[in-house]
Amino acid sequence: MELSEKLKRYGQEHLLRFDGLNDEERRAYLAELESLDLDFLANRAEAPARGNIAPIEGLSCEEIEARREEFEKVGLRALKEGKVAAILLAGGQGTRLGSAAPKGAFDIGVTRPLYIFELHLRHLLSVSRLCGAFVPLFIMTNAQNDRATREFLKEHGYFGYPADHIRFFVQEMLPSTDLNGKILLEDRGKLALSPNGNGGFYISLKKSGIEREFPSVEWYNVFAVDNVLQRSADPAFIGATLLSGAACGAKVVAKRSPEERVGVLCLEDGKPSVIEYFELPEAIARARDGAGRLLYRWGVTLNYLFSRRMLEDPSSKGIGVHVVKKKIPYYENGNYVLPETENGYKFETLILDMVRLAGTCLPFEVVREREFAPVKNKSGEDSVETARRLLSACGVEL
Ligand code: UTP
Repeated sequence: MELSEKLKRYGQEHLLRFDGLNDEERRAYLAELESLDLDFLANRAEAPARGNIAPIEGLSCEEIEARREEFEKVGLRALKEGKVAAILLAGGQGTRLGSAAPKGAFDIGVTRPLYIFELHLRHLLSVSRLCGAFVPLFIMTNAQNDRATREFLKEHGYFGYPADHIRFFVQEMLPSTDLNGKILLEDRGKLALSPNGNGGFYISLKKSGIEREFPSVEWYNVFAVDNVLQRSADPAFIGATLLSGAACGAKVVAKRSPEERVGVLCLEDGKPSVIEYFELPEAIARARDGAGRLLYRWGVTLNYLFSRRMLEDPSSKGIGVHVVKKKIPYYENGNYVLPETENGYKFETLILDMVRLAGTCLPFEVVREREFAPVKNKSGEDSVETARRLLSACGVEL
């Protein structure tokens, strides 16, 4: 299809303005436009209609403690046999934290440097020692932070983790639009792009070819960079999920209150599903069981175990794109604009939508104080201060 026809079909003809670009710049810009897949504009899931919601049974901390030995044995064997790879999601932009550097390069130490990546790598090293094999680690970056991430880790000797067992892959980007759905420019001849969300991890991993290097891997433990108490490749979690027969496992915490801003794992039309806190109807968020506990209490911590077979299923590609209203700096008619209010949309796939695709999921409860300290904001809730307090309480010297 002709470029102008393609752009017209999606209402994006305004992009065919060249604004004084020289020949070379014009060629590069046209090539970018040619390669642009605009289907995401038709694939948006702005406010997904919700199905019938019901609570899901999970493994509580007490049940896990009672069967810990059995779970760990199975998990350690799977790790030793190379059946599990860890995937560190580090492709976010960390806009709330307000630093352009990769979030993992953030120094959370007080009296000594202590980087977020360091915490994750040292933890994985301890698991590797326990199971007697290095766990393959795949780090997802984005086009903007890829170089800085690789250089930072190399400079720090990967914090003792052998580089042979680490791979990097870059996630895809999607254009941002204004509030009328018109794609924005970041500069003359440059589209305003942002990472396509953490739900894009599997497609990007597949495209990278890394999977083929690790044929023994049957499970992917996918986890967020910003939880500084994250325990990846946890043998008990892996063992429990494998024994349950589910296609996926999710580390969850018991919600502190109905208002807590975490996605909730539940059943939707009989299938496991994660509902974002702002989409959860209030009556459901507040419902309690006979013992007074929240009926919908499983808050997701962004630590999942997905079966590779499930991800390879062609239908797994079918997750929708969420539309998020944001402040997006843009270029127009020779001016660079830094908006003060939300002026457009970013498009993101979300990993939580993959739980629904899995069809079966084991909620695995973890002790919040030991495993959940996300760094999202500069101050206040889920911030550097709260994470430091939680790390200290776990005996980590800061
Ligand atoms: P968040 O949803 O908190 O987004 O990411 P963020 O980009 O880090 O932060 P804000 O919203 O801009 O402040 C949760 C996890 O998913 C990863 C992040 O790196 C983090 O580990 N992520 C997010 C990606 O890997 N890619 C993305 O496109 C978005």
